[in-house]
Amino acid sequence: SSASPKITVIGLGYLGATHAAAMAELGFEVLGLDVVPEKIRLLEQGRAPMYEPGLDDLLGAHVAGVEGSSGRLRFTDSWAEIGDFGDVHFVCVNTPQKHGEYACDMSYVDSAMDSLAPHLTRPALVVGKSTVPVGSAERLAARIAELAPAGADAELAWNPEFLREGFAVQDTLHPDRLVAGVRSERAELLLREVYARPLAEGTPFVVTDFPTSELVKTSANSFLATKISFINAMAEVCEAAGGDVVKLAEAIGYDDRIGKKFLRAGIGFGGGCLPKDIRAFMARAGELGASEALTFLREVDSINMRRRAQMVELTRDAVGGTLLGKRVGVLGATFKPDSDDVRDSPALNVAGQLHLQGAQVTVYDPKGMANARAIFPTLGYADSALEAVRGADIVLHLTEWREFKELDPAALGEAVTRRHVLDGRNTLDPEVWRKAGWTFRALGRPTA
Ligand code: UDX
Repeated sequence: SSASPKITVIGLGYLGATHAAAMAELGFEVLGLDVVPEKIRLLEQGRAPMYEPGLDDLLGAHVAGVEGSSGRLRFTDSWAEIGDFGDVHFVCVNTPQKHGEYACDMSYVDSAMDSLAPHLTRPALVVGKSTVPVGSAERLAARIAELAPAGADAELAWNPEFLREGFAVQDTLHPDRLVAGVRSERAELLLREVYARPLAEGTPFVVTDFPTSELVKTSANSFLATKISFINAMAEVCEAAGGDVVKLAEAIGYDDRIGKKFLRAGIGFGGGCLPKDIRAFMARAGELGASEALTFLREVDSINMRRRAQMVELTRDAVGGTLLGKRVGVLGATFKPDSDDVRDSPALNVAGQLHLQGAQVTVYDPKGMANARAIFPTLGYADSALEAVRGADIVLHLTEWREFKELDPAALGEAVTRRHVLDGRNTLDPEVWRKAGWTFRALGRPTA
């Protein structure tokens, strides 16, 4: 209906593009803005600027001008148009790690707010979704109060986002919970209106203050990172003691206080969130004089980084002590399956280290090839798993795509020089590979 709030989404990456499409799916009129013209060009054709399952379909169903679409989703590069159009403005720009520092780079958030605020000429709610250091919302609220022509009618709320890449559409339409940091009842009621459908489906809604809402996000990601590093630490102990971390994870996971999820040992976590979020959290705690509270995150980070180094070492040992001239077939480049994202990817990091130590590395990934080539042009790339392992002295499984689980080890065995495989994700079945004549090794599991 014409009474429902009009939505804008600022920043159209993994988070914003998905959020914009989801808001249109929920029935709202949506206007999106990004400062990268190429992204807008793709989105206007109903195409996502990244690979995310289901997102192209959702965009196609709503982007104005796409045949048969609802027409509820449009894009612009004009801040004036954004200010004029929106009742609720979602800020979804990214906060990457600063070069050579733990802290995150707030410049995209700051400049989005500074560009938007002077155009807030009528009552509006600005909703921050980006992952930010605690205290940012308070600072940004003051900035909006200073710059917005609408004065007190322009307000800020903080509404962290918990979506996982690969499940972004599903997580956005059916979140586990919604969290809102608000300073007025009006802000809470507007958010309740925007999220009416998930709330009607029973999604818990946690309403709180600014700092708590910001901390919910960083603490959730810290907990997840800690869980992964915990099981990876157990993998190291299993290696030393001859135990099997996969069995161990299964067994402790049956205790539902522990839970089965996020206990997959392997080459560790990467991506655009967990690594930089724990570092930014440590940096911020330091500024607040609370750094001791988070020293354990330094350990979480170093356990995680050690996994990559151990994978490289395991590979070097397996090919006879030197990587010089050895052919390595690498399966996987993205930081996780069902994504094309290679930011801080453990797979690509391992491949890069092997290359630097003189190995001839050939990489294949179902969706990450273009992004991998762009940041690591010196590695070899192949168009299929079979081509990547052709002539290989050793095969590394580094991202757990379903396609790799379904590979036929016998067929692959025909292509390689030596049947030697290292599973960096603990999702291949050792029995199946060993039966096909492969020497199979995995992090944290016994050698057969
Ligand atoms: C994460 C959070 O899960 C999400 O809630 C938040 O909004 C953003 O950050 P994402 O980065 O998409 O999401 O990936 P996630 O599924 O959390 O995986 C992160 C990394 O941990 C991946 O590299 C993955 O391979 C690794 N991982 C995950 C493990 O090594 N073991 C596990 O058991 C689980």
